[in-house]
Amino acid sequence: MSSDEYSDREQSQIKHFALGLYLNVAARILGQSRDIAYVDCCAGPWKSETPDYRDTSFGVALRVLRDARVFLRSKGKNPKFRMLLIEDDPGAFAKLKAFAGQTSVPETTIRAEKWDFTEHLDEIVGFARQPPAFPFVFIDPTGWKLAQLNVIKPILQLNPGEVLINLMSSFITRFVNDAHQDFTNLLGAKFAELRDLHGEEQEDEVVRRYCEAIRQVGGFRYVCALPVMKADRDSFQFHLIYATRHLKGVEKFKEVERRAARQTEVIRAEKQQKKREKRSRNLDLFTPEIRYQETRYQRLKGKNKGLAGSAVMNLIKTRDSLSYDECWAEAMQFAAVYESDLRGWLAAAESQNLVRIAGRKTSTEVLKIRANHTISLVR
Ligand SMILES: C[S@@+](CC[C@H](N)C(=O)[O-])C[C@H]1O[C@@H](n2cnc3c(N)ncnc32)[C@H](O)[C@@H]1O
Repeated sequence: MSSDEYSDREQSQIKHFALGLYLNVAARILGQSRDIAYVDCCAGPWKSETPDYRDTSFGVALRVLRDARVFLRSKGKNPKFRMLLIEDDPGAFAKLKAFAGQTSVPETTIRAEKWDFTEHLDEIVGFARQPPAFPFVFIDPTGWKLAQLNVIKPILQLNPGEVLINLMSSFITRFVNDAHQDFTNLLGAKFAELRDLHGEEQEDEVVRRYCEAIRQVGGFRYVCALPVMKADRDSFQFHLIYATRHLKGVEKFKEVERRAARQTEVIRAEKQQKKREKRSRNLDLFTPEIRYQETRYQRLKGKNKGLAGSAVMNLIKTRDSLSYDECWAEAMQFAAVYESDLRGWLAAAESQNLVRIAGRKTSTEVLKIRANHTISLVR
């Protein structure tokens, strides 16, 4: 993925990076035992700079599904993949249709439809369900209205199924204080409470409430938010909201989050260096990362560590004994919180005799999921 083709839309580069990483691993795992139905509800192409559309979400999805097929074939598996690519704009759809017509991948059907996806939800659900397959749906609108729960409810309720939604958080916070706007279908009935909050506190709460609403409407066990930064400002542009009913999904998505955070640093650091060099008309002596500046993600990380730690402790207090897996899942749904944080809190709580940890073969065994480790409160 070259940064040139994403010049001045580096957020899309991170979005495609995360989509590609997740879909690749999901297809390799799920494709071992079933077919896969991939739906891109807002496919584009949109601001694409490449003749083969490798800088679009459908181009990325096709590449990773093709790679996953090669991998699965090498393991003696031969699942069928099907893709439904939807685009509403006539000009963009003409390009999408030509792409779908020219592209052929073994055991993969590519269907392009010129639809307003909100008017074809029955067909989308039908495509996802029949013949039986595991559906993965990507919803990437330009504003927030198409991400509303009343609009996408049938997609959220596909079970089995997972969704990835682009929540334009920076856009929403520009309108949330407007008394003429109703956000009930995005943020719940009590959305007006958000008007008492400001700045990043408000933005974080918008994301938290949307995740909660997605969890409830879709009956998902886990919902994670991956913040995507603006390339040239110390703020977030949007959040990728991932919803799943499986622990394994969270595990893989956290790895995507970690790698996307690293990739964000590389991209933003280069951008900052170019800006400095242009201003000073001198070349920097150091590699871009040395002088990298960013505070927004670091603040979110600090805040979420506090919130996740409290959430885990509260959960432990409600039960006689809790599996480490449940503690893990609770903590990992907070962006920028990782397993090393959780292990650190539990080790500190154990050394202060606040919790008891059982199930380890030795007292130094590292806590991990699927190992029957349990946590209980010392009462
Ligand atoms: C942000 S762009 C998506 C870009 C693409 N997913 C990517 O990452 O390369 C949003 C696209 O959705 C299309 N769109 C907007 N409303 C739509 C709708 N109701 N149904 C289908 N497509 C829509 C727009 O024309 C635009 O191409």
